[in-house]
Amino acid sequence: MQAMRDFLPFQMERWQSTYENVVDYNLSESGVHPLTLGELLALAGTRADDLALGYGQSNGSMALRQNIARLYTGASSDNVCVTNGSAEANFIALWTLADPGSEIAVVTPTYMQTPGLAHAMGANVREILLREELGWQPDARDVTHAVTGDTRLIIVTNPGNPTGTVLSAASRHALLSAAARAGAWILADEVYAGAEIDDVAPTRSFWGEYPRVVATGSLSKAYGLPGLRIGWIIAQPELTERLWARKDYTTISPGELSDALAALALDPAVRPRILERTRERLRHGWHIMEGWLREQGCFHWQRPDAGAICFARYDLPIDSRELAERLRVEQSVLIVPGAHFQREGFVRLGFGLPPSQLRAALARVSELLEGLLARTA
Ligand SMILES: Cc1ncc(COP(=O)(O)O)c(C=O)c1O
Repeated sequence: MQAMRDFLPFQMERWQSTYENVVDYNLSESGVHPLTLGELLALAGTRADDLALGYGQSNGSMALRQNIARLYTGASSDNVCVTNGSAEANFIALWTLADPGSEIAVVTPTYMQTPGLAHAMGANVREILLREELGWQPDARDVTHAVTGDTRLIIVTNPGNPTGTVLSAASRHALLSAAARAGAWILADEVYAGAEIDDVAPTRSFWGEYPRVVATGSLSKAYGLPGLRIGWIIAQPELTERLWARKDYTTISPGELSDALAALALDPAVRPRILERTRERLRHGWHIMEGWLREQGCFHWQRPDAGAICFARYDLPIDSRELAERLRVEQSVLIVPGAHFQREGFVRLGFGLPPSQLRAALARVSELLEGLLARTA
């Protein structure tokens, strides 16, 4: 067996897992404030007391796979492998597709799990930059440059993290045509689809646009259910089988309770109610966040399309790690420094908290900013 190459720590996840449960206010989260179990069962109008807590079906129960398949044009339960969060979905996909020495192109800035894993698995990673000046879209020339005849896989997160931006039709076209030219796979991490802020249709999946697409998704963002740890992969049945074979080595099966609750959440009668709750919170949260950003006078930002995140550039004489550390220590507020996405001078601010908590958290951030701005005046 090939040994895994040197390993890049996943800085943002470690920062969050160390501090998110000990600070007063967590603005590092990218989804909306989670549902309680009681809220979910009430929305579904059911109870779960008679559920036997055995090992579940390893690739996800039939009910859950069918409900997931409904979200993807032309998909059936045979196209679905249920995983523990999209984190496991991305892991299995990369373990299967990122061979040592292979060329992989990653659209960045992004959730650093995918490039970090591709690197650890021995692949050579090239970046396709999302450009702030292009509204966080790639320049088509960069796509052509990064994807060569040797490219095995293109990784794209859409809607984006940390940008919250949905790719334009032209950007999708550039990525799809580059993939087709190279015969490359596309791994589309679509975990923020369904968490659009405006009243628009969920972001279109890459699934169905090109034969070699693997799409991943989960209940963590659009559904406010990250604690269920339910994610999935959609792929052609032959690949789904290969992915499932890898999953036998990782977590055996999704938790039985989570599988049952996920099947409820994605039931066609329940899902729209959960998505409406998410959208209502995103709208409200963004309204508060945008007003606050304006008042500060030191931020430049683009309105996110989806997710409870804003990637803001700031004019302050402090690097992003130090800013985040001072907010944590002095104000007990957790944000994500741009450095965790290899973008210095930015911060990722979450706005998924309930309104009163969000306002209180932002007031604390203002306190620190006022001190910093006074120093520069
Ligand atoms: C783009 C993206 N992909 C995957 C994940 C992993 O999420 P989960 O495993 O909860 O589905 C996250 C979490 O923040 C994310 O932002």
